[in-house]
Amino acid sequence: MIDYQTKCWHVDSVVEKPARLPQLEEPARLLAANEAVAFPTETVYGLGANALSSLAVRKIFEAKGRPSDNPLIVHIANRKDLDKLVSELPVQAEKLMDAFWPGPLTLILPKKEGIAPEVTAGLGSVGIRMPDHPVALALIEQAGVPVAAPSANRSGRPSPTTAAHVLEDLQGRIAGVVDGGPTGVGVESTVLDVTVEPPMILRPGGVTKEQIEAVIGEVQVDPGLTLLEEQPKSPGMKYQHYAPKGEMWIVQAATPEEQQAAIRRLVGQAKQLGHTVGVLATEESKEVYPQADVVVTCGRRGDLSTVAQKLYDSLRAFDQQGANYILAESFPTEGVGLAVMNRLVKAAGHRIFRA
Ligand code: TXA
Ligand code: MG
Repeated sequence: MIDYQTKCWHVDSVVEKPARLPQLEEPARLLAANEAVAFPTETVYGLGANALSSLAVRKIFEAKGRPSDNPLIVHIANRKDLDKLVSELPVQAEKLMDAFWPGPLTLILPKKEGIAPEVTAGLGSVGIRMPDHPVALALIEQAGVPVAAPSANRSGRPSPTTAAHVLEDLQGRIAGVVDGGPTGVGVESTVLDVTVEPPMILRPGGVTKEQIEAVIGEVQVDPGLTLLEEQPKSPGMKYQHYAPKGEMWIVQAATPEEQQAAIRRLVGQAKQLGHTVGVLATEESKEVYPQADVVVTCGRRGDLSTVAQKLYDSLRAFDQQGANYILAESFPTEGVGLAVMNRLVKAAGHRIFRA
């Protein structure tokens, strides 16, 4: 039975270095007592629980309605915590940690016994990251346990980038949420499997393929990801995800101008069918869809990191404004654009219109 008085703790003063924060005493105590607590990271809000306790980790799956075959990422605050979790550290992993931790890179590593089996969904490996957020680091440190945490949304919904998003999905289902303001990166961490050679990106995210290759040389991208034809290797990538309630289509064309023209045409057709039509636009194009009922502006095309930052909030905005048919602009897949397009294609349930 899930029936919590979900608490909310505000942490306004963002500290530079992890330190003991009095506002985090209660949530840290609840985490240590095997309750599920949501908290901010630099990517999205996570729903945390003690990674060493099956009882605690099951609360995450229950609150989210998450399929039990989808493993969780373990969050740590210090590198020495790896000793308890990982049986072996490939050389490349150390280089990557030096370069990107704390930060939005999750490493898939050979696991050690002791981690709750629910965390890894029975796999021999475990995903680990050190988040680049002072509140997350302080909370993990104060709880004194490694913290398993998926994104703090109901399964299938866009990931939360504010505490309000978390409450929208999980109010009454979790012990509480630490509100540290909106997250920065906006899309989840990059998941990189370093147990294979060359290492393979299982989920594109905040750290780009280009950045990783600058540190360790060539990496592969799971072919199931970009084309979305084969079965992706990461269990989590096969589920429909991030979806707004309306039916969403991504519109692709050779140039941004042709894309806009195609979207305008499709808006007209959808209006005739009686739909409440939404368009996912950017700062550059927000004025060009006057016929649409709802235009949501998602960052600047000229800087895709701003699109990543606003993506999930934009998807939720269509629900709030009642759009039941959504046409989305498409983005180049360079840099963080790969993560943006991966999430967008999944949010659209792979519906792509090629003009
Ligand atoms: O930015 C993030 O990574 C956020 C914040 C909260 O840290 N967390 C997050 O967790 O996105 P989640 O559970 O929503 O996504 C975890 C992804 C899933 O696609 C899962 O299948 C994959 O990581 N994963 C976890 N452990 C794995 C493993 N051992 N092998 C392959 N994939 C794994
Ligand atoms: Mg997620």
